Amino acid sequence: MAVTIRQLQVWKQQQRPITVLTAWDYALAKILDGAGVDILLVGDSLAMVALGYETTLSLTLEEMVYHAQAVVRGSQQALVVCDLPFMSYQESPQQALRSAGRLLQRAGVNAVKVEGGYPDMVATVHCLVERGIPVMGHLGLTPQSMHQLSGYHRQGTTKSAADRMLCEAEALAAAGAFALVLEHIPMDLAAKITESLSIPTIGIGAGPHCDGQVLVTADVLGLSDWQPPFAKPYVDLRQSIQAAVQCFCEDVRKGKFPE
Ligand code: KIV
Repeated sequence: MAVTIRQLQVWKQQQRPITVLTAWDYALAKILDGAGVDILLVGDSLAMVALGYETTLSLTLEEMVYHAQAVVRGSQQALVVCDLPFMSYQESPQQALRSAGRLLQRAGVNAVKVEGGYPDMVATVHCLVERGIPVMGHLGLTPQSMHQLSGYHRQGTTKSAADRMLCEAEALAAAGAFALVLEHIPMDLAAKITESLSIPTIGIGAGPHCDGQVLVTADVLGLSDWQPPFAKPYVDLRQSIQAAVQCFCEDVRKGKFPE
């Protein structure tokens, strides 16, 4: 059965952890979906891991639509959530509505994700949800604001920042967000937010007390040039691919392939 937003709420109540991985093309989506991942996130981290950009800021809505279409074609069971890229939604709720509408209509994703909280994103989430577009929120380290945050540091480390984040999380949930990503924040803060919300929290570098966990798939597979401190590689695919490619080159050069 395909994963639905209602199913995520039930899993939160049942304390059944939710799994989320990023995907950026058809082949990867098909493998992740077949392996039973609950949510495929067409995250804007694809800017770095699939397109070679330095940050997520360079990614355009057109590029996102193209990648999201491929991911949707590769997924049968997982809920497909897509990041709204930088400057495709920050201007106004109406701009967010147009961009999200394109991702749902043209790419066929099930929901969108926006970064940030007070005051603008709360209004934006409300506007999208009122018009039938499901939204996942994202608080803590929000990479689209990396200049404003002076880099990729842990967030919510002072009492005032933690208090503000809890209020923002509650406001996003009240505005209708169906889930909330918490990135690179102290685990006791993530636990507090998780306990106070009726919607699921999905942690990345936020400790074990969230309702689910998300990682960038390139990090899980050992494909990234660089990994954040909270990532966990489960396999070294870069090494396996290099070894396989070297064997192929050697076979061809020595006349061993084709036989
Ligand atoms: O773009 C992305 O991969 C993300 C996850 C890190 C949550 O937003």
